[in-house]
Amino acid sequence: MLMAWSADGDVIVAGNARPPVDDGVVLITGASAGIGRELAVQLAPRARMLVLLARRAGRLEELRASLLARHPRLQVLTVPVDLSDENDVERALAGAGEQAGAVDVLVNNAGVGDQALADQADWTRVRTMLRTNVLAVAQLTTALVPGMVQRGRGGVLNMGSGAGLTVMPAAAAYSASKHFMDGFSEALRADLSGTGVIVTQVCPGPVDSEFDQIAGSAGGMTGGPPPFLRISAAQCAREALAGFDRGVPLVFPGRAYRIVMRALPLLPRELSRRQAARSATRIRRTTGDATHRDRPGGQAGA
Ligand SMILES: NC(=O)c1ccc[n+]([C@@H]2O[C@H](COP(=O)([O-])OP(=O)(O)OC[C@H]3O[C@@H](n4cnc5c(N)ncnc54)[C@H](OP(=O)(O)O)[C@@H]3O)[C@@H](O)[C@H]2O)c1
Repeated sequence: MLMAWSADGDVIVAGNARPPVDDGVVLITGASAGIGRELAVQLAPRARMLVLLARRAGRLEELRASLLARHPRLQVLTVPVDLSDENDVERALAGAGEQAGAVDVLVNNAGVGDQALADQADWTRVRTMLRTNVLAVAQLTTALVPGMVQRGRGGVLNMGSGAGLTVMPAAAAYSASKHFMDGFSEALRADLSGTGVIVTQVCPGPVDSEFDQIAGSAGGMTGGPPPFLRISAAQCAREALAGFDRGVPLVFPGRAYRIVMRALPLLPRELSRRQAARSATRIRRTTGDATHRDRPGGQAGA
């Protein structure tokens, strides 16, 4: 296999086609906000059709109207769906298939976080998060990738996280869901090599979006990367797409964050463990000894 390295040091598999974004049908999950919305905005001048998924139908419709106003030749299909519900995902896939036909590129971007020490986590939130961040990704990929392989061209862009490559305090299930994304993306890429389907994983650090607020960590995940590494959703989307176009396996958006993440594997894991344990102890002291019963929507007695 021929390998090449980009100026940034990314490994590129030479000879692989670009993902069929240009004039293609691109399905984006989590397009109603943040990084997913930015991906839709930046893909709009290139794609033939965008299929936009999220729960908030109003947000999707607003985005559709603004994209069509700027790109009259673009087709935009909005599909309101709760990705944490397997049957709803099935319904959305059937509807999208009927109206959009074959999907050339799948962008698994939707995701939610949860900032809580493991013993204080709320099961309902954890379950919804795992269904959204893990099961929906596997379900959509399993449904759409066989067609790409049959056609000999396609692309999967997976939104992972730095949390999926390290030990993250007070976010055990979220971090684990992104470790799934890492393992899934790497294995998918290996399985699909030579089929014409490009697989790229993006592992951002802190990005300006609604994510932190929804995760219950306004101001950034405690114990996460320092705030100076924060980038805009637009920059994250731009660098994600640039890496995807080059067919790189893993994108770390943001220059300073990229340097940090490339150095990470050189650190002994014991250091990450100790650092995470120190942060978790600090968080426990600040949050007090709250139990999951004290959190909104907690599962008292369950
Ligand atoms: N922001 C960060 O600091 C950061 C860092 C690393 C990785 N990431 C990852 O980047 C991805 C995008 O996050 P973001 O920062 O753009 O967050 P965001 O602004 O909160 O956007 C999340 C998107 O996911 C959708 N979504 C959430 N739950 C859903 C469900 N059950 N069904 C359908 N759609 C759902 C939301 O749409 P609705 O609410 O309308 O359903 C929204 O469009 C996530 O996978 C996240 O883990 C983010």
